[in-house]
Amino acid sequence: MGTTSPLHDDLLSDEVNEDPYPAFARLRAEDPVHWSDRHRAWMLTRHDDVVAASNHPNLSSDRVRPLLARMPEERRATVGPVFEMIADWMVVSDPPAHTRLRRLATHAFHPKKFVAMEDRIRALVDTYIDEYVQSGEQDLIANFAFPLPATVICELIGAPVQDADRMKAWSQELALVAFGTGGDARADRHARALAGLEEMLAYFSELVARARERPPGGDDMISSLLEGDASGERLTDDELLGMCALMLFAGHETSMNTIASTVYQLLRHPDQLALLRADPKLAGKAVEEGLRTEGAIKVLQRWVTEDLELRGKRIRAGDRVFLLLAAANRDPERFADPDRFDITRSPNPHVAFGKGMHTCIGAMLARLEMRMAVGRLVQRLPNLRLADEGFRPQWQPSIASRAMRALPLRHD
Ligand code: HEM
Repeated sequence: MGTTSPLHDDLLSDEVNEDPYPAFARLRAEDPVHWSDRHRAWMLTRHDDVVAASNHPNLSSDRVRPLLARMPEERRATVGPVFEMIADWMVVSDPPAHTRLRRLATHAFHPKKFVAMEDRIRALVDTYIDEYVQSGEQDLIANFAFPLPATVICELIGAPVQDADRMKAWSQELALVAFGTGGDARADRHARALAGLEEMLAYFSELVARARERPPGGDDMISSLLEGDASGERLTDDELLGMCALMLFAGHETSMNTIASTVYQLLRHPDQLALLRADPKLAGKAVEEGLRTEGAIKVLQRWVTEDLELRGKRIRAGDRVFLLLAAANRDPERFADPDRFDITRSPNPHVAFGKGMHTCIGAMLARLEMRMAVGRLVQRLPNLRLADEGFRPQWQPSIASRAMRALPLRHD
């Protein structure tokens, strides 16, 4: 009998963090509903299963409170506060709380608003391309892919743009916990996340106080949320601060990482880059393919509220389930030649924005800014190329997010 090597399911191992796709392909083919001792979680890797699980009534997004409830007393004293502060956020709540929060947030996210933002975003893209070129710096992430979405999200929320750097620092600290960092930062991640979150909430309190003094009718997010929906229902003060923090956190690193990974892949695939240069209208599809092949969120988490059976395996109430979006997005059952980066792929039913009731509320905005960012960069900088042909990206150690550390380019 031949021997088979063990499946790799340690998302924080260097090997899987650097290139998760071979490990995900084996999990998907050999054990699509896999129990990982390492993470004490079930891992779902098939597209159909991930989509079905995203809509399954026994799988809950209320994943912070159960952690708190299980936490031993002494651990709760140190790491509890950060969990308590995020436990009521929309993204970690179930109906009916989620339904109410999502309805009130949707009011501030009307598609008409984004159409109106289009010209402004195009102008920002061009400004940041000019600054990138003039700066003489190489790293596209620090000098373009970060400031663009950070500025857009500040303007959306109604925060002064000069505060974008502080916002980045706070949300990076929070990401250490929310996305499950590895590496050196793992040991003190809770203290750092708590400090960042406290500062962020104090900052938003001031912004909300200032917005209350202005006449109603402003079209920034804080003003819309203060107004409430058509029936006059509003968020409480704590909910409002939580919503601002969530939008900031959810809205900029994800877009930054996707801009970077899409540009990187275009540069690695000259045939695809040539297609985009020949037909700039393909920018939207190029971004969709960037989302599919290197989406910013690798893994989502759910808790099981009642026993269920999946592909013959008994999943028990109280278990944790990981939805591996990054594995589902390369499922050969759904995508022909799934590891190929193909900007003409159609249809492209990737799950990079999630599925079901929690599907990304900012997807329309993200798509708009990423399409313009990638399209304009490629059009305006015909000599854009990797600074070093031998460059291999390094990825931040993380269970849930897929984030390149730097992308050094030349354009002269
Ligand atoms: C490339 C960019 C982005 C990606 C890949 C992304 C990905 C996701 C994913 C996978 C979810 C589902 C979470 C879950 O089911 O647990 C989600 C939800 C969410 N996203 Fe995004 N996102 C992006 C951009 C944005 C932007 C720009 C904003 C805000 C302006 C935003 C705000 C949110 C919020 C508030 C939720 C929670 C929705 C809910 O719980 O109902 N995202 N996002």
